[in-house]
Amino acid sequence: MSEPVKILPSLMCERPWEMPEYVAAFEESHVAAIHFDVMDGHYVPNLMLGTDDLAAVRSLTSLPVDVHLMATNPDDLVRILDIRAGDWCSFHPEVALQPYRILQDIREKGARAGVALSPAVPVSYVEECLEVLDFVLVMAVNPGFAGQKMVPGHLGKLARIASVVSGADHPVDIVVDGNTTPEHARAMVAAGATGLVVGTSTLLKEGPDRFVALEQEYRKAIEG
Ligand code: DX5
Ligand code: ZN
Repeated sequence: MSEPVKILPSLMCERPWEMPEYVAAFEESHVAAIHFDVMDGHYVPNLMLGTDDLAAVRSLTSLPVDVHLMATNPDDLVRILDIRAGDWCSFHPEVALQPYRILQDIREKGARAGVALSPAVPVSYVEECLEVLDFVLVMAVNPGFAGQKMVPGHLGKLARIASVVSGADHPVDIVVDGNTTPEHARAMVAAGATGLVVGTSTLLKEGPDRFVALEQEYRKAIEG
């Protein structure tokens, strides 16, 4: 039997004052890690979550954090951020100076290392880094904002990534970020996704007190 799909709730989709309640709901459910979007206003035209927000999450929970660096200087950021053993961390390789080196740096911290691929960024990055990769974060939307629609070529790209990853000699997760509605999620999992970032289009749309129930419904909808 295949493993259950990994669910990664996106922290930027909550309102800041809801964080303690959401984190309690994440602890009560079966999330793999808390997805944490760092946006720098350069790689993406938006600003989101930084060092203080990460410290706030740490003060509330010991759940793993999945740091997604949407920033032009991932080589430096990965060194200064509080990334811990058991966390996940990905960055966009086309704006990194040394993508392979960053993956090694993340692994040296005991965290799971990933490349994040925006639409139009080639799958060849996955091939070139396969031996030091623990996951691929595949953007189903242009990075920067919640509430967007999946780009048409996404499912085909997922299948191509799944084919490359099947050649790895260690487990490599494929996580989709953006517009993971139940209908899309079923197709994404069929195309090879093993994890889903969930945000405004799904589990974080109705507030923290509905998260646990929505997660159960979502899993049923994907598996059914
Ligand atoms: C982008 C973020 C969120 C997340 C939002 O990196 O992680 O935008 O995908 O979820 P949706 O697309 O459901 O609003
Ligand atoms: Zn993200």
